[in-house]
Amino acid sequence: MTILTVQGLHAGYGVADVLRNIDFAVERGTIVALLGANGAGKTTTLRALSGLIPSRGVIKFAGTDLRQCSAARRVELGLAHVPQGRGTFAEFTVEENLAAGAYTAGSKRQIAQDMERWYEAFPRLAERRRQLAGSLSGGEQQMLALARALMSRPKLLLCDEPSLGLAPAITQEIFEIFRQLNQEHGMTLLIVEQNADLTLQFADTAYVMEAGEITLNGKASDLLSDEAVQQSYLGV
Ligand SMILES: Nc1ncnc2c1ncn2[C@@H]1O[C@H](COP(=O)(O)OP(=O)(O)OP(=O)(O)O)[C@@H](O)[C@H]1O
Ligand SMILES: [Mg+2]
Repeated sequence: MTILTVQGLHAGYGVADVLRNIDFAVERGTIVALLGANGAGKTTTLRALSGLIPSRGVIKFAGTDLRQCSAARRVELGLAHVPQGRGTFAEFTVEENLAAGAYTAGSKRQIAQDMERWYEAFPRLAERRRQLAGSLSGGEQQMLALARALMSRPKLLLCDEPSLGLAPAITQEIFEIFRQLNQEHGMTLLIVEQNADLTLQFADTAYVMEAGEITLNGKASDLLSDEAVQQSYLGV
């Protein structure tokens, strides 16, 4: 079943569009990779989906046309966005950051239960619940950004460049968490990455963007094993 359908999406920041006529879909319960070089329009795509910038075209999410929905309403509907650069509140503790992510999620008891659930999944955050987010390592901040997004009880998690600035071992750990979220918690994920090789190992399907357009898509395993595709599109 399709959870997200994007058709003829245009978006940008001023007069000229950055995204030109983007089409793609995300199936429920899958991990989808959105790949491409610097400036291809990946972040812009996620911003348009979560309503942070205006767009034209169809964005249908879990049966709802998002065109008339504010960014806050999209979170309520189950769309969570972990932005490039993480966006955690440096002067807040880990726990306060998690609480801030729960603003749509209901009663105090539910929030406390959700928090414990994500502390279990991220034990390094549990150990640091009273530490200021700004003093966490890069990997811990990425985990906090993820856990904070999960506090809104999303159906679909949009994740922008999770590997940015992280050592390979920590990146691997973050991707193992994605796999766990997908397999054990049934989460659907749309992951934007420049680290194409690694992301394709975890994803089910992938889209490649170039200069504001989607130029290639397919099964992640097919893209991973196709040498011509690797050389011309993925630069690995
Ligand atoms: N706030 C902004 N105002 C004007 N132009 C912007 C803004 N943000 C991005 N752009 C432009 O939009 C284009 C696409 O940028 P975008 O951030 O979506 O790329 P990206 O694929 O996420 O790149 P990266 O991998 O470097 O994060 C670029 O040409 C960029 O200069
Ligand atoms: Mg980006």
